[in-house]
Amino acid sequence: MTIECATASSSERKATSRAGSNIAFIKYWGVADAGEDLNIPLNNSISMTLADAHTTTTVAWDHSARLPTDTVVIDGVQLKRAPAQRIVAHLDRLRALAGVPYKARVVSNNNFPMASGIASSASGFAALTVAGAAALGLQLDATRLSALARQGSGSASRSLFGGFVEWERGWGEGESEEERRENESSVLLDTRSVARQIHDEEHWALRDIIAIVSAAAKRVSSSGGHRLAATSPFNAARTHSVGDWLKTVRRAIAARDISLLGPVLEADALAMHAVMMTSSPSLLYWQPGTLEVLHAVCAWREAGVPVYFTIDAGPNVHLICEAETAAEVEDRLHSLPAVRRVLTSGPGPGPQLLAGHLF
Ligand code: PMV
Repeated sequence: MTIECATASSSERKATSRAGSNIAFIKYWGVADAGEDLNIPLNNSISMTLADAHTTTTVAWDHSARLPTDTVVIDGVQLKRAPAQRIVAHLDRLRALAGVPYKARVVSNNNFPMASGIASSASGFAALTVAGAAALGLQLDATRLSALARQGSGSASRSLFGGFVEWERGWGEGESEEERRENESSVLLDTRSVARQIHDEEHWALRDIIAIVSAAAKRVSSSGGHRLAATSPFNAARTHSVGDWLKTVRRAIAARDISLLGPVLEADALAMHAVMMTSSPSLLYWQPGTLEVLHAVCAWREAGVPVYFTIDAGPNVHLICEAETAAEVEDRLHSLPAVRRVLTSGPGPGPQLLAGHLF
């Protein structure tokens, strides 16, 4: 799949992209390059890109050089200097690639609430990368855009593709920092650690049903958490187990087998949270409502409902089931006192460039 950046001529200054968020079945947790911002993961991860949870972003590069700084507006709120820093760093990557000094205006809207347990950094950095590159006339295929998006937010590398996606760690076991640097032709477009589509969005009508139990902002962001993974004595055990889990998840998705997929996605979510809880300092993302949903899912399964859970870096629980089970799961979730809101999405496409702009 190629993102149609080629349609943006070099005189074009503005572009708009829409990208879906994603939910990981095998998680990305922990970086191998703790001292840098390359986001090289400790293990491969596999996710489903979401159709109904997306970010739309317009990027306009100021060729007239009148704009003194980059401006970033997300969901109607202009970001101050510190919160905008990660986005400005990503705009710097795009400027370096194009060899231009222009500042940018960025306006971005999520169609889902922040703090919902849906990763806005995945869809946000994917949409920013695609729109920012297109508006500069950079002609990059989806693989190179995935490498670039990864440097903004690791999980964004997977949102460059629709359907079911695997992000390859792509940096050999035991390869030292020096060896890796020597192997790099260009750090920004080094495509060894990138995502690729394993099946498109038509392959399997799975549903991600998100049980929102708390809207409180998390105390430690996932980017901070990745740097702590190595401090957990359980980290090596989890990354060791992931090898077999990846094989099972690939097989389960290929065969559309929920009873093969489900136990593994639960095992990895629990292993990741065990690593988080035993990091130094400890990261405890769960709230009482998180446990209420986990116990309910186990009870429903014993009662014959094929539904499984996974949890990202937050308290909200993602329930994974097939489309035919979704209405029943949603009804059951609404009956739990801890659940404040339920959001559902199926698999969706990769990023698109839109003809209409946000400003
Ligand atoms: O891309 P980040 O830095 O927001 O990390 C994402 C981490 C998890 O959501 C917990 C797991 C994953 O693979 O998406």
